[in-house]
Amino acid sequence: DWTMGAYREQAIEAIRETVGDKQVICGLSGGVDSSVAAVLIHEAIGDQLTCVFVDHGLLRKGEAEEVVTMFRDHYNMKLIHADEQELFLGELDGQSDPETKRKIIGKLFIDVFQKYANEIEGAEFLAQGTLYPDVIESVSFSGGPSVTIKSHHNVGGLPEKMGLKLVEPLRELFKDEVRALGAELGLPPSFIGRHPFPGPGLAIRCPGEITRAKLDILREADAVYIDQIRKHGLYDDIWQAFVAILPVRTVGVMGDGRTYDYACALRAVTSVDGMTADYYPFTHEFLGETATRIINEVPGINRVTYDITSKPPGTIEWE
Ligand code: XMP
Repeated sequence: DWTMGAYREQAIEAIRETVGDKQVICGLSGGVDSSVAAVLIHEAIGDQLTCVFVDHGLLRKGEAEEVVTMFRDHYNMKLIHADEQELFLGELDGQSDPETKRKIIGKLFIDVFQKYANEIEGAEFLAQGTLYPDVIESVSFSGGPSVTIKSHHNVGGLPEKMGLKLVEPLRELFKDEVRALGAELGLPPSFIGRHPFPGPGLAIRCPGEITRAKLDILREADAVYIDQIRKHGLYDDIWQAFVAILPVRTVGVMGDGRTYDYACALRAVTSVDGMTADYYPFTHEFLGETATRIINEVPGINRVTYDITSKPPGTIEWE
């Protein structure tokens, strides 16, 4: 009987059998996959699980607090909140090449994860929210961009380096099944339905050089945009929506004075798997209202554009 209730029971049994009385560590990103994996494993082995949430300073507004509140306070998990913002933003300082930025983040992420994991005594297992499509993809592609994505996303190479064995309780599931399992485990619908968020986070939504000032502006603009999308009931129709802050300042007028502030681009796409995507056909009313709100509510932005590029030829992210 292949219901999620039955899957849950079987998975819990299997996790207990594999892990025994050993300790497990899990990288929690706040995304659906790692969250469902963590909750499932926590249900199986409780305090033998420690989650590590790495805050690289490239998260959205309020994201770190949400994750800590949910997993530490609500689920009572052992959770290390690794605040490494200074480290990541320091290393990224002055870097503008997209691939270099990704490499720096990926490497630091592994270093940091390893540092915290080493502090957990008796850790023998590393838990990952690997899905069935990840398993297939990592077999059928080699050297392409998808491998880069996976290797960052799933802390590639870490288990071998640290002598850890893998626990991957979602390996047989597709994304919609993971969502169903998440619902079965009591994760709130707003959490299960969240848009995907890339491992390098806001770094790839801030083309060119990253500065703390730009990130702050970006976080505020993004929060207004997502609020607009939710208020208009559009969130669930969209695969991913976000703001990118452009590496250019433009002239504007406000009251009696001139402004010289950043331009930003709104992005929203529909997609099935992220491999291809269409831009979302917002109404002009929605776009106009959103632009006005962002310019009025977010100091530092005086111009808003809407990205109408589909994938291909564009990518979903700006870098
Ligand atoms: P692109 O921009 O390549 O994005 O059309 C396709 C999907 O992948 C996500 N993405 C990433 N995820 N690390 C990740 O974990 C990355 O480096 C990365 N780059 C893109 C993107 O958000 C979209 O869902």
